Amino acid sequence: MRPTDIQTWSTRATRLGLFPAIASHAVAVVSNPDSSVTDLVRVVHRHPAVSMRIVRLVNGPFYDMPRPIHRLNDVFVYTGMAEALRLILAVSIGAQLWDTLTGRRIGYHAVRVGGLARLIARRTAGVDPGDAFLAGCLHDGAMPVFSESHPAYDAMAAECHGERLVRAEREALGVDHAALMSALLLQWGIAPRIATGVRCHHDPVTSATDPLAVVVQVADAIDTAMQSQTPTQDAVGQLVNLPASQALEIRGEEIHHWLDTASGKVRVAG
Ligand SMILES: [Fe+2]
Ligand SMILES: [Fe+2]
Repeated sequence: MRPTDIQTWSTRATRLGLFPAIASHAVAVVSNPDSSVTDLVRVVHRHPAVSMRIVRLVNGPFYDMPRPIHRLNDVFVYTGMAEALRLILAVSIGAQLWDTLTGRRIGYHAVRVGGLARLIARRTAGVDPGDAFLAGCLHDGAMPVFSESHPAYDAMAAECHGERLVRAEREALGVDHAALMSALLLQWGIAPRIATGVRCHHDPVTSATDPLAVVVQVADAIDTAMQSQTPTQDAVGQLVNLPASQALEIRGEEIHHWLDTASGKVRVAG
């Protein structure tokens, strides 16, 4: 029987290990007011691959580190607890999507969209760059759940994009990846504003659309343009004319700058 409710899909997400133990431990540590950076470092040190990926990510193109930082403890002291939690969630959930979906490097897409969303949020009033980073890293996080349980899903996702994909998912699976991921984030105790940004990341843009979702839409579109071609002047023009870019009054020079930044090597897998 076709599963149509979010609860069924969320059980499948749990079985797939989409919210790993390290992520739930980190959320618990940060929600305890008595916790310190040392407690968070202790959680990550049990997972050397996550630790290595976090260090690579912060030394990559989306962070303005004054100098390379190689020790996890130094990274977390520099970023503070809130950003340290985002990094753990981004790497343990977002970047692992690279491992889950054979042949489709969603993890790189996730981390690049997170990085781009952070850059876009820096010049966008009312959107916190840290929120944008996390929402960007997690926005397509539910896709592996569909991919794993629905044999035709990968072909559907390769063929349809954006709103078309969301409609096709609702029709074939009873729920779309944005709504499912949003529900999962709420279950996992992630801030509701992040869940809203994720839920609305394919919504048509109007003056009422969640601003965080609009930022993620622009970042998603830039990364998608980068994957399908070397962006030309025409492609930049198309990106500037997107309703989401128009809503944020994004200029062509800004898109060029973000494309240059995002084309720097993003090394999170390995
Ligand atoms: Fe999406
Ligand atoms: Fe995406």
